[in-house]
Amino acid sequence: MCQGGPGHRGFVAYDVVMEHADHVRLIRDGVVGGGPAWADLGSGRGAFTLALADILGPSGSIVSVDRDAGALREQAGELHRRFPVVTVDQRVADFSAPLDLGPLDGIVMANSLHFVRDKTSVLAGVRAALRDDGRLVLVEYDADRGNHWVPFPMTFDTWCRTAEAAGFRDTRRLASVPSRFLGSIYSAVSVR
Ligand SMILES: C[S@@+](CC[C@H](N)C(=O)[O-])C[C@H]1O[C@@H](n2cnc3c(N)ncnc32)[C@H](O)[C@@H]1O
Repeated sequence: MCQGGPGHRGFVAYDVVMEHADHVRLIRDGVVGGGPAWADLGSGRGAFTLALADILGPSGSIVSVDRDAGALREQAGELHRRFPVVTVDQRVADFSAPLDLGPLDGIVMANSLHFVRDKTSVLAGVRAALRDDGRLVLVEYDADRGNHWVPFPMTFDTWCRTAEAAGFRDTRRLASVPSRFLGSIYSAVSVR
């Protein structure tokens, strides 16, 4: 069953230029209480890796995966500067290929799943990397029609159906922020 959650009642009043505090607010409720071992798939320059590091604190460990080695290098500098005590294992890899990641307490996919047209096999890999009751936190544009930069986004309703078909349960919306490009961005958490 999918739940609209608090983000359904209206936007948090952020600008489209998000700050670290906004990244934290988007995912915090999906991460807190979920355990210390997380991965960020398609982590890029690390906006949500930094948010995860902030939320998890010194006991956290994060596997940060991106196919862009340059973005990971930038991310490493920021992580070292701001959260030096959090363990981060960076991997230059394609998250649509099999990855030896698990078992993890949680996975964040922020603005990265929309690069995949058929999400079935990626979501099967994500499920396989999570422990029982592990969490998937998605950050995604709330649109079913994409564009050149965001090819295959999903509305929250589409994500609910997609997540359920992939075997996830209890999908609920966490928060939303306005987007200049595609209406809004939401965050949601699902349970393996
Ligand atoms: C729009 S950026 C989002 C970065 C970050 N998660 C954020 O929200 O700020 C998308 C990132 O996903 C990465 N990416 C897309 N498809 C990927 C794949 N199949 N495997 C690994 N990384 C991928 C890109 O290299 C890029 O860094």
